[in-house]
Amino acid sequence: MDKIIIEGGQTRLDGEVVIEGAKNAVLPLLAATILPKSGKTILRNVPILSDVFTMNNVVRGLGISVEFNEDDKEITVDATSDILDVAPYEYVSKMRASIVVLGPILARNGHAKVSMPGGCTIGSRPIDLHLKGLEAMGAKITQLGGDITAEAEKLHGAHIYMDFPSVGATQNLMMAATLAEGVTTIENAAREPEIVDLAILLNEMGAQVRGAGTETLVITGVDSLHGAEHDVVQDRIEAGTFMVAAAMTSGNVLIKDAVWEHNRPLISKLMEMGVSVTEEENGIRVQAELDNLRPVTVKTLPHPGFPTDMQAQFTALMAIVKGESTMIETVFENRFQHLEEMRRMGLHSEILRDTALIHGGHDLQGAPVMSTDLRASAALILTGLVANGTTIVGKLTHLDRGYYQFHEKLAKLGANIRRVSEA
Ligand code: EPZ
Repeated sequence: MDKIIIEGGQTRLDGEVVIEGAKNAVLPLLAATILPKSGKTILRNVPILSDVFTMNNVVRGLGISVEFNEDDKEITVDATSDILDVAPYEYVSKMRASIVVLGPILARNGHAKVSMPGGCTIGSRPIDLHLKGLEAMGAKITQLGGDITAEAEKLHGAHIYMDFPSVGATQNLMMAATLAEGVTTIENAAREPEIVDLAILLNEMGAQVRGAGTETLVITGVDSLHGAEHDVVQDRIEAGTFMVAAAMTSGNVLIKDAVWEHNRPLISKLMEMGVSVTEEENGIRVQAELDNLRPVTVKTLPHPGFPTDMQAQFTALMAIVKGESTMIETVFENRFQHLEEMRRMGLHSEILRDTALIHGGHDLQGAPVMSTDLRASAALILTGLVANGTTIVGKLTHLDRGYYQFHEKLAKLGANIRRVSEA
């Protein structure tokens, strides 16, 4: 098992960092490549992450050709021959995001079988909104033996109101609706930049998706889709993670080609704390003096609210800013586990259901810590940068799902950090 070892306390990150394509965009984009019956689809600016390899295997399991050229960060998909309609359990069970292949397989084949995604450490992760929407479009859904089977001779348009703006459900239903008979309206839809990126690819494939990025999507079904070429949008969560790292270390970092619009809620909170965030020609520059920063209150919400995927990283910043900060996590029910590990480093905090009170400014000490989920791993590494002494972060399989060359990028900015393999 690999471990990351950080000598912290004196780190000041300085320089510029390149950000990869978005994990949470490329996974649904890969699901969309199931839809075209003619032509190949090429995805560019693909991040080299374990979740991408997993999703490639899910799509390959349908009998579809998927070639991943890692040097060029490019994936070519050819779905022109008939596809199978059972997603392979061994891969679907590894990554719950695979559930978004359900809509595309059903829309294309009229029949789909996908294993129920398990929960994960941050929450139970139900899929009721996915299934309710597909049923509204005429699908017959059965759940047996841990599998979901969906059948529909031909999906038809529907007017769907989402109880919650679920990202995955919005993506599943949007993709299914592209080949349905008639018009589908999805109200209270998710508005994340990754939703917009998916709609752009679908429209490049010949779909008619309107309103992406707003709370109401209108999709007019078409007979078939064709292949397309598409650049994956930049990963706003990786970009945000480096913005927080720069603030925590009183650094001066240019986040190359970062998109201000995609990170407005995070940037507004950083500025409220007293962090300098400025837009430059080729990216966003983040500078800070830790002693001048002020505590804040943050509540995570669906986009355009503060992203839950930045919550753990932001609590690491709150931990070292003098004063009482408050983090309220409204999206997932169990996403404060990183705070338990940070307590081992000297963090003072109390958790009261969805609210963490963080008494920031106490000196933190390096310690061996265990990551429990993807964003917790990043938060613990950032904390190691500012804790005095040595921090060792284990269980890096979580980190490798969502960050490419994370420790190399931090080392290039001046961190004393290395990754060692242990038998
Ligand atoms: C996506 O997960 C992201 N994953 C998550 O990123 C992200 O945290 C989440 O959106 C919210 O932004 C990918 O895109 C691969 P949701 P998803 O459906 O689609 C409830 C990361 O760290 N819900 O918007 O699963 C659910 O329980 C990962 O990169 C229902 O109740 O998120 C949760 O409380 C973590 N019923 C809330 O909605 C449903 O049918 C948000 O879930 C679906 C969801």
